[in-house]
Amino acid sequence: MIALTAAEIAAATGGVLRAGVDPALVVAGPVVVDSREVEPGGLFVALPGEHVDGHDYAAGAVAAGAALVLAARDVTGPEGQPLPTVVVPDVERALGDLAREVLVRLRAASLEPGAPGLRVVGITGSVGKTTTKDLLAQLCGSAGPTIAPVRSFNNEIGLPLTVLKADEATRFLVLEMGASGLGHLTYLTDIAPPDVAVVLVVGQAHLGGFGGIEAVARAKSEIVQGLVPDGVAVLNADDLRVMAMAELAPGDVVTFGASAGADVRARGVVVDRTGRARFMLEARDADGGTRAVPVELRLVGEHHVHNALAAAATGLAVGLSLDEVAAGLSAADALSPHRMHVVERPDGVTVVDDSYNANPDSMRAALKALAVLAGRDRRSIAVLGEMLELGDEHREAHDAIGRLVVRLNIGLTVVVGEGARAIRDGANHEGSWGDEVLLADDVEAAAQFLEGELRPGDVVLVKSSYGAGLWQLGDLLVGEVAR
Ligand SMILES: Nc1ncnc2c1ncn2[C@@H]1O[C@H](COP(=O)(O)OP(=O)(O)OP(=O)(O)O)[C@@H](O)[C@H]1O
Ligand SMILES: [Mg+2]
Repeated sequence: MIALTAAEIAAATGGVLRAGVDPALVVAGPVVVDSREVEPGGLFVALPGEHVDGHDYAAGAVAAGAALVLAARDVTGPEGQPLPTVVVPDVERALGDLAREVLVRLRAASLEPGAPGLRVVGITGSVGKTTTKDLLAQLCGSAGPTIAPVRSFNNEIGLPLTVLKADEATRFLVLEMGASGLGHLTYLTDIAPPDVAVVLVVGQAHLGGFGGIEAVARAKSEIVQGLVPDGVAVLNADDLRVMAMAELAPGDVVTFGASAGADVRARGVVVDRTGRARFMLEARDADGGTRAVPVELRLVGEHHVHNALAAAATGLAVGLSLDEVAAGLSAADALSPHRMHVVERPDGVTVVDDSYNANPDSMRAALKALAVLAGRDRRSIAVLGEMLELGDEHREAHDAIGRLVVRLNIGLTVVVGEGARAIRDGANHEGSWGDEVLLADDVEAAAQFLEGELRPGDVVLVKSSYGAGLWQLGDLLVGEVAR
């Protein structure tokens, strides 16, 4: 974190400095919520968790070098001595307040003559946020110092923690913004109002928490309303619900997608045998003409063209050139684990580990990629678990995936867990033969079955919602314990 005094931290969070803490104490180390990550001179934020209470770890954090603790109550060390603490009514809110204050200071500093300038990007959408964030962070990273979240840190805790990593040298702050209900994005944009807001898609993810797709659209539109006054909205031209948000945009709107009128488009998309797409990236110039440059993605799955276009449109909006964007996209890798991670095993089996998460959109995309990878000569195997948070759509959505499996001619489908049973039912209704689709009770049973079943040449996709736990199977098949 940029250097702040204890008094400044207390003022920013509406907290009270406990007696004995020097108001001039400087906190310049990282802000962490996990005491194992404490570094000397940093701030430990004692969050009350579901299973553990951060307050219980405050003493350990100070022993490890934390200069100050942000907490909801007084905390003491092993001998009962008071720890240097700012006490606030609500620690999670205080973390957001601190991040807001830091960003206000960084924006002010970025206006100083000679400063590198700071651009804040917020990315939301039902699917593809982390992928787009990772792509964009790689594009921006080659143009200047960039801060982006690790993995999928996109909520009321992960977002402020990411903001708090920025400093005066930061040129690009790329933020993933997740929402599982109305008001969530407003909370996040209130902490970090973006200069550029990206809406990828309004889809069926997390539907259960919203109560319908129109509510999802409303919730996602909050990011556009949360833009800075002259901020740019980057919108998916292929999604009507996203395009409707143009009306709410305070400034310029840039569109991306396959639609003919999109400002940033992919022309001539070709997917090779390894599942990677190449295309001509076409963008409109300021003078109304268009230019096209070739891009070859390293990510697996045609669906990533969409994320690449979003990253490209955003990269252009923050001032990168089309050539920089094209080169960056062609060099970019999937940074976050369990997302279309393709591993060629020594025994000739190809594993596609896409087990980080699943919803109907990403299930369809992954199954299509599996069909492409297997081609005509290799056996395709889909190991599919439950898609969570679908509310009333749960049965129908699983049934539809079962039908798709048959239409894509997937060789063998292993449905894992009772919650995903409707995938098998859908496949059966669509005309699958009895032994093409099997039901395994749990991850362990599926692992055991696959051990005896896999043979050289097979291509295996592993996919479910995170909570359904197939990532364990992904790790097992790939042969890694934890990534
Ligand atoms: N445009 C897309 N269409 C369909 N599937 C996609 C698309 N982009 C990514 N996916 C797939 O969706 C899954 C999640 O991708 P990613 O982690 O990028 O999304 P996210 O929006 O960050 O998800 P979360 O809400 O869990 O943070 C992966 O399996 C990925 O391959
Ligand atoms: Mg994510």
